[in-house]
Amino acid sequence: MHNWTPSSWRNKPIKQVPEYEDTDHLSNVENTISTYPPLVFAGEARDLKDKLALASQGRAFLLQGGDCAESFVEHNPDNIRDIFRLFLQMSVVLIFATSLPVVKVGRIAGQFAKPRSSDTEVINGEELLSYRGDIINGIEFEENQRKPDPERLLKSYRQSAATVNLLRAFSQGGYADLERVHSWTLEFLNNSPIGEKYSYLAENITKSLGFMRACGVTPESVPQLRTTDLYTSHEALLLGYEEAMTRVDSITGDWYATSGHMVWIGDRTRDPDEAHVEYCRGIKNPIGIKCGPSLTSENLIRLIDILNPENEAGRITLIARFGYENVEKHLPNFIDIISKENKNVLWSCDPMHGNTIKSDSGFKTRPFEYIMNEVRSYMKIHKDKGTFPGGIHVEMTGKNVTECVGGAISIRDEDLSSRYHTHCDPRLNADQALELAFLVADELRSTL
Ligand code: PEP
Ligand code: CO
Repeated sequence: MHNWTPSSWRNKPIKQVPEYEDTDHLSNVENTISTYPPLVFAGEARDLKDKLALASQGRAFLLQGGDCAESFVEHNPDNIRDIFRLFLQMSVVLIFATSLPVVKVGRIAGQFAKPRSSDTEVINGEELLSYRGDIINGIEFEENQRKPDPERLLKSYRQSAATVNLLRAFSQGGYADLERVHSWTLEFLNNSPIGEKYSYLAENITKSLGFMRACGVTPESVPQLRTTDLYTSHEALLLGYEEAMTRVDSITGDWYATSGHMVWIGDRTRDPDEAHVEYCRGIKNPIGIKCGPSLTSENLIRLIDILNPENEAGRITLIARFGYENVEKHLPNFIDIISKENKNVLWSCDPMHGNTIKSDSGFKTRPFEYIMNEVRSYMKIHKDKGTFPGGIHVEMTGKNVTECVGGAISIRDEDLSSRYHTHCDPRLNADQALELAFLVADELRSTL
């Protein structure tokens, strides 16, 4: 790797950096974290890359999702269990419809740092620094809370370690056993049309499992029926933290980010000449690139050449987030360029970040209809081009929140205030996420 070190990003221009008052304190914390155990292993990141390579060839489907921003106050076992359950439910919906394996990647166990469109926020004439995620500062609108605090990196590391530990236990410890497919239903889904649709599907799976059991294929004899993998991912935004978690893999001698299995570069920090791209170029993990309306074809190809010079399949996931009104305008061109240049990429659709609006009541929200429309257009464009719409990337929670308007149990503008808990962007609640999974399943089946 030419002239790359875990700290070479420090010599490049950089956007979205918090200004710490005490930079010695920050360096001490980063040095401490660099002595801590890795959160994930290089071999796991390689396995994920292999699975993403399959998805890029149309032989698997990527389901990536979770909080916009994880927070310290929402850190509890129930929340982790509920998002894990939601992943299992969405996966069976997708697998059942498409017969494709689903690669599950959470925005979890490290998704703390947030890019912001403005450095400051003004409320009632008072101007304070913007909230940049719990790894940097506090969300409360108070001067002291908004000061970047290096101690928050340590807390984020510990929270990520506890989260990844519980996810591993759920994945391997029997919770994911397919014979429990009925019990994954979240209580509040019982009365919803989507909940009913899911029960019907679970019934069918149970029947198939009964048939297989009679033939001698059981979760005891086939571990794949009782375990799963949920990989972790986050935006590689706070590079001091990422650098501290970057380690050499003892097997291959390559550098890996060990803060999560996959990292992505955000839409605001993907300048090919700047720090975030420089950092990601040297690590071997799978890398996502957010592709929004401001991306140019030239920069897209430059980014891919810098980040994936060997054109390795599974390395690059292009996460299209154009907005339902813009996707037709941009995506077809990008697909053509990628095909013409013979780049190996996995296409994924983030129908959230291009569809954020301010509701009449003043909440940041996303109409479920817009989200569905972007997914439909994305699928249709791929179908027309003969390319594979390899995945989706969504902000969702296993909780019954009221943050996005619409859906089968319609959430109205006036409902938003009742359970609006997000620390950043509005998330799909479990019911809406499952409804989306059914839509994606239907659309995918018709493209296969
Ligand atoms: C995000 O994924 O939370 C995000 C900020 O996305 P984007 O970089 O695409 O705006
Ligand atoms: Co977001």
